Amino acid sequence: MRAAFASSFNDADPLAGLTVGEAPAPVPGDGWAVVDVRASALNHHDLWSLRGVGLRPEQLPMILGCDAAGIGPDGAEVVVYPVVFTPSGEVSILSEFYQGTVAEQVTVPAYNLVPKPAELTFAEVACLPTAWLTAYRMLTTKGRVEPDQAVLVQGAGGGVATAAILLAQALGARVYATSRDASKRERVAALGATALDSGARLPERVDVIIETVGEATFDHSMKCAKHGARIVVSGATSGHLPKVNLRRMFALQLEILGTSMGTPEELSALMTLLANTGVRPVIDSIIPFSEARTAFEKLHSGDVFGKIVLDHTT
Ligand SMILES: NC(=O)c1ccc[n+]([C@@H]2O[C@H](COP(=O)([O-])OP(=O)(O)OC[C@H]3O[C@@H](n4cnc5c(N)ncnc54)[C@H](OP(=O)(O)O)[C@@H]3O)[C@@H](O)[C@H]2O)c1
Repeated sequence: MRAAFASSFNDADPLAGLTVGEAPAPVPGDGWAVVDVRASALNHHDLWSLRGVGLRPEQLPMILGCDAAGIGPDGAEVVVYPVVFTPSGEVSILSEFYQGTVAEQVTVPAYNLVPKPAELTFAEVACLPTAWLTAYRMLTTKGRVEPDQAVLVQGAGGGVATAAILLAQALGARVYATSRDASKRERVAALGATALDSGARLPERVDVIIETVGEATFDHSMKCAKHGARIVVSGATSGHLPKVNLRRMFALQLEILGTSMGTPEELSALMTLLANTGVRPVIDSIIPFSEARTAFEKLHSGDVFGKIVLDHTT
């Protein structure tokens, strides 16, 4: 079957190790199901994989991709929940231990198939299992956001960030979002949030901060937090060792909360929220599978606003 996979690692030039070509079709184990993928979506995680983060050379070739939606074994339309336990009981995301989703087919435990709501397209639901699920859990389970509270989203162009902007608004919050890029700030404003340059002073302190940028923005996140605020961290794109002002942390009783992905139940709740509110993922582009390399190049360029989706029917 055709697939996009990491055939080697290259930290400086991650795309050097990307191969788009033929890979063996998956053989499902007991209790596992094969999904015919209709759409997949890319994540920053795929670039980490091509750099060798979280993978060992003996695992190569590894099909990339955490996100997919398609047709399950009984013909049902499904979304693939990407978190799978390894035989030794460790948590892994597809493409870390088991083969990923940027392929004609993917196999996962049957438990990982979540019904796709009819209101959402394959391209839309393919955006959800990693970035949108992470953003949903950051705001709800971890951030405990309430209507009329204020939320700051750092690095607004990213997949998690654009998801957080729209979901926070759907949950009734006032949203501020920072970006280094003026054109991204315009697009953030069009989504209904107050767009600010990275590091800019906010008109008010906020209740919840969505952090995926890390070192470059963390001090600003601390300064924007009001008493009792939750700074929720799911990524550190710019570096993972920021200085933390502990005096501010205890004086303002701030909570710094780490989180990864979410549960299948949270994925279902997220899809219900989208179906009921009409909110839809921001899709940067839908690219035919036959041009998969272009999609990875776009992700790597950083010139992205929202999710890059691969259409597996073309
Ligand atoms: N733990 C989890 O479950 C989980 C799930 C999904 C993602 N993640 C992680 O979360 C992070 C975000 O992933 P993503 O796929 O949404 O998008 P991404 O490609 O990492 O983009 C994130 C945004 O970060 C900002 N950024 C990058 N470098 C920066 C810098 N030096 N200074 C300031 N801002 C910078 C950019 O915003 P602007 O250009 O707008 O400034 C960019 O749009 C990644 O590190 C990823 O690994 C974790």
